[in-house]
Parts: sequence; C-alpha cells; structure tokens
Amino acid sequence: MRSPVTTPWHPASWQTKPAQQQPTYKDPAALDHVVAQLAKLPPIVVSWEIEALRERLAAAQRGQAFLLQGGDCAETFADCESDQIAKKLKILLQMSLVLLHGLKKPIIRVGRMAGQYAKPRSADTETRNGVTLPSYRGDLVNRPEFTPEAREPDPDLLLRGYARAALTLNFVRALVDGGFADLHHPEYWDLGFVHHSPLKATYERIASSIADALDFFEGMSGRRVHEATHAAFYASHEGLHLMYEQAQTRFIPRQQRWYNLSTHMPWIGMRTAQLDGAHVEYFRGISNPIAVKVGAAMDASWLQGLVTTLNPQNQPGRLTLIHRFGAKDIEKHLPKAIEAVRQTGQQVLWVCDPMHGNTETTTGGLKTRRFENIQRELELAFEIHAQCGSHLGGVHVELTGDDVTECTGGARGLTDADLQRAYRSTVDPRLNHEQALELALLISGRNQSRRTAAG
Ligand code: PEP
Ligand code: CO
Repeated sequence: MRSPVTTPWHPASWQTKPAQQQPTYKDPAALDHVVAQLAKLPPIVVSWEIEALRERLAAAQRGQAFLLQGGDCAETFADCESDQIAKKLKILLQMSLVLLHGLKKPIIRVGRMAGQYAKPRSADTETRNGVTLPSYRGDLVNRPEFTPEAREPDPDLLLRGYARAALTLNFVRALVDGGFADLHHPEYWDLGFVHHSPLKATYERIASSIADALDFFEGMSGRRVHEATHAAFYASHEGLHLMYEQAQTRFIPRQQRWYNLSTHMPWIGMRTAQLDGAHVEYFRGISNPIAVKVGAAMDASWLQGLVTTLNPQNQPGRLTLIHRFGAKDIEKHLPKAIEAVRQTGQQVLWVCDPMHGNTETTTGGLKTRRFENIQRELELAFEIHAQCGSHLGGVHVELTGDDVTECTGGARGLTDADLQRAYRSTVDPRLNHEQALELALLISGRNQSRRTAAG
C-alpha cells in the first residue's frame, strides 16, 4: 500500500503538479493582482465552524448522524437573489426534518451553496458552426454566451464570485439565526407548489407529528426548542479553481494549521482526483473536512492512495467519500471500493451521490436523470453498505427549490415531454422541490419500515 506523501506542503505547492480543468488567463499579471486582493479580504467562514462540522461528520462516520449535502449543480451570479436562496435553504431544511423524523438521528445540513461557481468540462473548447471558443467553466471563470468576449476567462470574476458567495452565506446565516429554521415558523413548513402533490398527506403527517412532539417537549421544559438547539447550516463547493482556493488558504495561529476559509467543506471532483495531481496536493494540506467524488475508474490502489494521502493521521470526520457509480453499476463497483478502503484500516464517511452516474440525454438532446434510477442507486447503496459491514452515512444531491422539470419521474410522473416546460439548468438536471422532498421521504420511510420489521 502507498505510504503517505511527506514532501513539504504550502498553499501553492500544487503548482508544481499537473493541474486539470484550470482556465488559461490571457493576462497572468491581472490574475496575480486579483489573487493578491482575494488573499487580503476577510474570510467567508472561520476555523471553529469548520472544526464543529468535522466533529459532526465524525459522528456520521460512527453512524450517529446523517449528512444531507445538496444544492445546485452550479450556482450562477444571476441567481444570487433572496428568493432563490431562501427557497433552496427551505427545501434543504424540509428534507432534513423529514430525515430527522425517519432516521432519528441528527442531520448535518451542508449546502452546495455560497461558492459553487466553477465547473469541470469534458473539453477545453467548444465548436459551433465552425467557430471554436473556450468552454464555459462556470461564472467564476467566464460567461455562458457563445461569443469570444463572454468565453474569455476573466480574473475579475473571481472577486465577484467571492463577494456573491459571502452575500449568499450572509443571507443564509441571517435566515437560520433569525427564525427561518425555527420549527414553529410557518414558512418552514409551507410546501409552495407541492400543495397539489400526492406527497402532501405524508409530509403533513410528519410535520404534525413533529409539531406534537415539540409542544410536548416545550410544555415539559418551558423552553422553545430553537433556543435549545442551534440549527447549523454549512457551505460546500467543488474546490476546482486552485488559484481561487489558494487565495483563501490561511494559517490559523491558534490551531497551528492551514484552513481553506472560503467554505466549510470543499470537495475534489471526479475529474481532478488524480493521485499525483495538483488537486490532491492542495487538499492534503488544508485542515477542513474534505470529500472526494468516487467513480467507476478508481481502482483499489487509487482509492487507497487517496485515503492515505488525504488523511494520513486517520482523523475522524476528515475524509468523506462520495460515490457516484450509477444505478446500473453500483453493484459492480461499490463492494470493491468498500473492501479497498477497509484494507487501509482507516475510517471514512461514505456518502452516495445518486445523481452524477445517472445522467442521460433524451432524443430531444436534453440532459436528464430518471427519478427511478436515482431512487434505485440510493436504495442499493444502503443495502450494499449494510451487506459489506459498512454503512451509508449521507446523501449528496443536486436540487433546486423551484418548480423545474429537469429530472423525469417522481410522484407526479414527469415524462421526457414535460422537460421542455421548465428546464432551466445550464449544467446538470436537478431535482425540483417536490422530487427532493420525495427522496427524503423515501430514505426516511425505508428506515422506518426496517425498524418496524425489526421490532
Ligand atoms: C458535480 O458534482 O457537479 C460533478 C461535476 O460531479 P462529479 O465530479 O462527480 O462528476
Ligand atoms: Co453536477
């Protein structure tokens, strides 16, 4: 088995390694100038929040908590507005309540939010009608319109992305602290368009059972529940753009460690997880809890190398592996991945992303995902972990609080023909509010039926 890397690390040591998926800026001096500015700005998150999250993730590793990580495939600067942010937060809070009710353990809420602005692409360039331009890499890098000006990577977008991430997290924190996550707040429970949903009755049963339990607790203790428990909400994004991440990397003297203070929990995407690559080099030196997306191409030695390089001390809560094999392939790959990690003797948190292995293209050319495949992969993930003596400690999903039609299926039975109606994603298809809630109900119902069967 590979021994951990021992060469010295510093926030820019990744620059000596091959870096995939990085934009090429025409004016390197302008980039340096922006990076220097970013490095001076105050951080978006602080180290003690990051440490609190790591401890919670350690609990999930032990089976005592469950991670709900979700949000847009890519946030856009245009969607940085109050209604969009509040809706996304609301669906995540509602899902977390449903999960709490079913799983009977704390739910760790982590948004793909407040910085999810950079995207990996399958090709560096895109050609339309004989014209070749750089690919759109997310709002942090360039703009989606197919013109030479829009597609030119612009370093100023790094500053704008940083500001929008801060604005987003500031608003989320204010909502959470100001009562939005108070279980008595009517906004919290309101289902919006899901009012006409076949799921309404089940959801309302759960909501009223929680309300009864709250009344009981508060009657007994004389205290409001939200005063007793702080509803924490954490931010995460793919740590793809390494100059951006480097600029946010600070040494915290009190902890004597380096942290990436642009987000609580950055992750390495599947396309940038090469063992000898720049991303793994950067991530090994920061102290945040981190995640890696795990796909079918990762064999045992690759996975073992990631585990020993990224968490040489076997620190609890440090490393989350998010597997995304697809419903078709999970049975083939997951048992081997679990065994490979077991051989290292190290602990990881296993999470299932049932979205990215189930993407397909309709005959009309739209990217979609079928709810039945998402559900199937998730169910198989629970079963396979249990059979292999491991456990699934969380779920990673792409969703929006809006009534979009991007994924087919679900309780309302959306078909390929419905996709035209409200397809808004410029990247991957997301679960809408109703489908996201349905997924949470399925997870929590699954656990309840197991408990009933066992009891
Ligand atoms: C994503 O999470 O949007 C993504 C690109 O995932 P992956 O790295 O798993 O393909
Ligand atoms: Co995606």
